[in-house]
Amino acid sequence: MKVIAITGGGAGIGRGIAWHFARLGYAVSIMDADRQAGKEALQVMVEVGVKALFTPGDVSKPADVTRWLAATRARLGVPNVLVNNAGIEIRKPVLKLSVAEFDKVIAVNLRGTFIASQAAARMMAARKRGGAIINLASTRAFMSEAGTEGYTASKGGIVALTHGMAISLAEHRIRVHCISPGWIETSDWQKASKAKPPKHSKADKEQHPAGRVGTPEDVARACQYLAEGADFMTGQNIVIDGGMTVKMIYV
Ligand SMILES: NC(=O)c1ccc[n+]([C@@H]2O[C@H](COP(=O)([O-])OP(=O)(O)OC[C@H]3O[C@@H](n4cnc5c(N)ncnc54)[C@H](O)[C@@H]3O)[C@@H](O)[C@H]2O)c1
Repeated sequence: MKVIAITGGGAGIGRGIAWHFARLGYAVSIMDADRQAGKEALQVMVEVGVKALFTPGDVSKPADVTRWLAATRARLGVPNVLVNNAGIEIRKPVLKLSVAEFDKVIAVNLRGTFIASQAAARMMAARKRGGAIINLASTRAFMSEAGTEGYTASKGGIVALTHGMAISLAEHRIRVHCISPGWIETSDWQKASKAKPPKHSKADKEQHPAGRVGTPEDVARACQYLAEGADFMTGQNIVIDGGMTVKMIYV
């Protein structure tokens, strides 16, 4: 049985990816800083017979990541796929953003991606059967709204880290990719106390050439391709944004 390990798999896009791969027959290991979200995501999978594991923890802490991946290897096996999905954002005018706030976003999004990738790659390399690492970047790695410096810097770093690791890990047959989602609606993929039905205006939809806002399933399908079908690809970034970032705007 193939194994997928997903950071931030308790809610949002990560939970959607967990569910998608569970339906494909994978054993699923999630780590999340939100204990309640992780427990709920685990319960939904276990109830339908999926082999799954939840470990609470913070991706920016190497000891938490090591504990999670060791438990994954012991209970489910060495991951075939790692998805670095956990991420946070602090929106604040750049002139007011503290260095500690900037550091916090970089620590979770970029440092966390490095920590989990290195730990999982060590296991994959030792097993000698290759693997795939998929990092969640963002279209904000390439374009910005005001007040998002920590987030955009972390996501730009993830795109660069992806091609760096793709080259370094190629000798171990580990492919490393990233996905840059645009607007992905996650309201209905949150823990029960926070979940609500998505609500989008006509303008929200129409600003996407695809005519709608994205869903976690849109991202999960790309993860499936990168994990299972993209043998002749590594170090690439796939934009999943319904065409939003290629649309020219004059007003
Ligand atoms: N939703 C979007 O529109 C969108 C767009 C582009 C990129 N992304 C990226 O996709 C990823 C998932 O986003 P989302 O919208 O599903 O977010 P979300 O907030 O709905 O879910 C993120 C999950 O990560 C967990 N998490 C946060 N910090 C953590 C930490 N330090 N350690 C472990 N778990 C932690 C949270 O508890 C939560 O369960 C993020 O990396 C985000 O930057 C999202």
